[in-house]
Amino acid sequence: MNKERKLIIAGNWKMNKTVAEALDLVRGLKLELTNVKEVDLVICPPFTALSEVSKAVLDSNLRLGAQNMSEHNFGAYTGEIAAGMLKEFSVRYVILGHSERRQYQKESDELISKKAQAAHGASLKPIVCVGETLTEREGGQTEKVLEMQVRGSLAGVTKDQMTETVVAYEPVWAIGTGKTATTAQAQEAHAFIRGLLVKMYDETVARRVRIQYGGSVKPANARELMSQPDVDGALVGGASLEARSFGDIVKNSI
Ligand code: PGA
Repeated sequence: MNKERKLIIAGNWKMNKTVAEALDLVRGLKLELTNVKEVDLVICPPFTALSEVSKAVLDSNLRLGAQNMSEHNFGAYTGEIAAGMLKEFSVRYVILGHSERRQYQKESDELISKKAQAAHGASLKPIVCVGETLTEREGGQTEKVLEMQVRGSLAGVTKDQMTETVVAYEPVWAIGTGKTATTAQAQEAHAFIRGLLVKMYDETVARRVRIQYGGSVKPANARELMSQPDVDGALVGGASLEARSFGDIVKNSI
């Protein structure tokens, strides 16, 4: 597939996999994906598996991401993890503002923007998630919600930092539900987000930013989604927990 931007496909393992299970999955992924160079491949295990997984991926094309981090660099923040601590395990990416964190941990756009700035401060590339709920979509609020989230979550991110930022469009109603946005719905939202980036930054920056689609991405729908001009990869939950399905999503996207 000939794309303007290099695809980036990331597996968000969420709260799954013990260290032993994580290492098992990495072994499988290395077999499935050895020769893939066309796509940036990222896996995001839980914090507890980062240390061992970081060693296991050293000799591979798999890059490491975390699922969250603190907006602070250090200090009395019980239970939190700072960007610098992630760097110790060669983590390069960090998912920020996932809808599950927006929902269960009540993360706001303002907090997410502080985290994004802290990530860039430590040279971690944030994957900033945005997306509307079903009620918002049905109420015709999709663009309004996306605009608020994109502007709010990326506030304070400079032009240079923005080109190193990944945006993930994840309609909340498509996450873990088996319902995928149609390719037209995905493309429309992605084009809208890129248009916003033109307004917030400029054409050059907007053309460079990779926008992933997330929400029930499977081997069967990956090719069609990735064929859309503004879809530059995928953030995969459930289907990233098995080497075969994640491998097939990647292969079908190339
Ligand atoms: P899903 O999750 O692929 O299981 O729908 C996507 C995500 O939450 O990133």
